[in-house]
Amino acid sequence: MGFYEAQVLPRAVHVLLGTPGMARIRRPALAGLAGTVVELGFGSGSNVGLYPPAVERVLAVEPNATARHLAGRRLERHPEPPVEWVGLDGARVPLPDAAADAVLVTFTLCTIPDLDAALGEARRLLRPGGAVHFLEHGLAPDPAVARRQRRLEPLQKRLGGGCHLTRDAPTALERAGFRLAELHRFRAGSAVLGTMSAGRAVRP
Ligand SMILES: C[S@@+](CC[C@H](N)C(=O)[O-])C[C@H]1O[C@@H](n2cnc3c(N)ncnc32)[C@H](O)[C@@H]1O
Repeated sequence: MGFYEAQVLPRAVHVLLGTPGMARIRRPALAGLAGTVVELGFGSGSNVGLYPPAVERVLAVEPNATARHLAGRRLERHPEPPVEWVGLDGARVPLPDAAADAVLVTFTLCTIPDLDAALGEARRLLRPGGAVHFLEHGLAPDPAVARRQRRLEPLQKRLGGGCHLTRDAPTALERAGFRLAELHRFRAGSAVLGTMSAGRAVRP
């Protein structure tokens, strides 16, 4: 990993995704979380302070050391629920089967290199009836926007640490065997980020 991805990008993400406006769109995706939550792509902890009171602990998976360091300040401000670092790769999490009541992913399914492996892992980690709570950007339904997203994706992947513009989280979740129990679609603030998807996908 070069200097940009190791040092610059996590700081930019920390600022851009940590605004009060972003907190407003995060809250609905976090609603209903309870018990043990595995958060894949924890980043610098932009969801810290927003977890509902029923969350007992968060098991965090995050490969970027700078992001983990930046999270420290937020975790000091919000010591409850406790957050424990448990892994570096959402596609291979060193936890037993059915260890989680819920899995949380926000702006992460766009970036994890092996999306299907990570969703298979999320399914393995969830107890039956547990759900993936998600908030992700993805492919726009408007063909003109989608064409632009396809054109810009190589650049976005370079600038965004592997972030894809054309993934569709709900489709990927269904492909991985989840049942979409709740799905809200809305336009992202920036056209190139396409459509936002927020909701809950249940492990049968
Ligand atoms: C755009 S950031 C989002 C961070 C945070 N979830 C948020 O909502 O602000 C994407 C995160 O996914 C992480 N990531 C990249 N590859 C990953 C992997 N294989 N497993 C888990 N997380 C990964 C990145 O390090 C980064 O922190």
